[in-house]
Amino acid sequence: MRILCWSIALCLPFAAQAQSLVQLQAGYAKQAVQDDSSFKSFSAARGQRFFLSKHGNDWSCASCHTSDPTRSGKHDVTGRAIQPMAPAANPKRFTDAAKAEKWFRRNCRDVVGRECSALEKGDVLAWLGSLRAGGVR
Ligand code: HEC
Repeated sequence: MRILCWSIALCLPFAAQAQSLVQLQAGYAKQAVQDDSSFKSFSAARGQRFFLSKHGNDWSCASCHTSDPTRSGKHDVTGRAIQPMAPAANPKRFTDAAKAEKWFRRNCRDVVGRECSALEKGDVLAWLGSLRAGGVR
């Protein structure tokens, strides 16, 4: 850590980012246990499947965010660019819990026709957090 954090200016964004995705996920974990007491942990593989699949409607999460969240996406209707979803490629992601919650709510309603469960949100974060800049392999 001391070698990586030789400069406070370089180090702070990493700390804030990691803390925030992890904090957000910790909140979903608490909720997931309340929803189902047999909940053990989130799954990046399940999150990836959820993100790439359609759920009975025209869109998947990947329709706007692409199937490679380390790259920029494009809104399926407006055509406006959307910054990468993976924190490794976009350090601003998941640094604002209120923003994350607002968009989870809106996008899940569009894609799934209901709000996402804590399990689904935690799984998606597990996948996005596991990605490294340079693309999905
Ligand atoms: C119709 C296009 C569209 C679809 C489909 C879509 N999104 Fe989004 N999403 C957006 C836009 C636009 C934003 C806001 C702009 C931004 O944050 O770059 C956004 C932002 C988000 C954010 C906020 C991230 C942050 O910075 O905190 C999350 C979380 C998110 N989307 C999750 C999802 C999930 C999960 C799905 C699938 C269930 C999904 N989105 C499907 C367009 C879409």
